[in-house]
Amino acid sequence: MRPRRCSLANQASAWWIADDGSGGRTTHFRNDIASQELGEGIRVRVEFSALNYKDALALTGSPGVVRTTPLVPGIDAAGTVEESSDPRFPQGTHVVVTGFGYGEDRHGGLSTTMVVAPEHLVVIPEALTTGQAATFGTAGFTALLAVHALLNHGLTPETQKLPIAVTGAAGAVGSFATFFLASQGFAVHAITGRTDEAPYLMDLGASEVISRQEVLGWPQRPLLPEKFDGAVDQAGGELLAKLLASTATGGAVAASGLAGGMALPTTVAPFILRGVTLVGVNSVYQDMSVREALWSECAKHSSSVPWDQISHTIPLSEARDTAERVLAGLTRGRVVVEMPA
Ligand SMILES: NC(=O)c1ccc[n+]([C@@H]2O[C@H](COP(=O)([O-])OP(=O)(O)OC[C@H]3O[C@@H](n4cnc5c(N)ncnc54)[C@H](OP(=O)(O)O)[C@@H]3O)[C@@H](O)[C@H]2O)c1
Repeated sequence: MRPRRCSLANQASAWWIADDGSGGRTTHFRNDIASQELGEGIRVRVEFSALNYKDALALTGSPGVVRTTPLVPGIDAAGTVEESSDPRFPQGTHVVVTGFGYGEDRHGGLSTTMVVAPEHLVVIPEALTTGQAATFGTAGFTALLAVHALLNHGLTPETQKLPIAVTGAAGAVGSFATFFLASQGFAVHAITGRTDEAPYLMDLGASEVISRQEVLGWPQRPLLPEKFDGAVDQAGGELLAKLLASTATGGAVAASGLAGGMALPTTVAPFILRGVTLVGVNSVYQDMSVREALWSECAKHSSSVPWDQISHTIPLSEARDTAERVLAGLTRGRVVVEMPA
């Protein structure tokens, strides 16, 4: 039977990950997903999703993200409530969802329709469009969590002696972390594998751009000269170890990613000799009160966020091909995915 070219009104179009019958996974595009296949809950017409690092892993069949099949990938989405029996989210409400296992063990946002449990929905603040909400999404939310981790540790722009480092700075979380730290008044050093992105990173507010290779080339010692008061790290691995060894006495490093590796080849020296704190950041299962507070904070800054610089938009149909570029570290900032009209 030939595949249908366009979806019927009550059917969704989405990327679909399924078992291939021999222990592997296949990813294909479907135009014929019936409502009941997506489960029960509030039905949202997705307007924008995004291509997160996790989504790129899922779309390319890499292990570790997709925990059940079949599955629509996409760990976040923004759109409009289409069908709801919950008075908190009447039809027409603009909503966003990030984390909570969508795109991992429940159908996610790389779809024209998403069915979401009411306890997982955030009403998009009025100052934000659905496109801006998807741009901020998991990446901006994670960056703000990391910035707050440093603030809660007591780091402030007023008392700052050394810069704050941001790794993976030209990526999605890194771009938002650079922007939010700089807009709070922190001096930010952006660490990147793409020093040709220096003009972009300086526009976001970085005062210096450092090559990732240079940092990785620093000597392999338990402690290095103090270079940073703190850091927001997307890389993990050796880069995180170098940051910990270079963090000043009493400083803090917020770790949220593993773009450079899962291992952490460090020693206890930064912790016991300099009192450095390593703070874990997990955006997936944050309480609704934290979510609402950070979405309000994003809305407050909305007019100063360089939305167009930080994001570029692709159609849903290009998500699979673009995933390879995300994993190769070739995309800048946030990749927003627009649903077909
Ligand atoms: N904990 C959480 O809740 C949470 C939430 C969101 C994301 N994450 C994780 O955070 C990381 C970044 O996510 P993202 O959405 O910002 O992804 P992204 O947009 O793909 O950015 C990742 C960035 O990492 C850098 N990078 C690539 N390869 C690297 C390597 N070998 N060593 C060090 N850095 C490397 C690159 O930055 P440069 O080009 O500047 O070098 C790349 O742009 C991912 O591991 C993701 O899974 C975690």
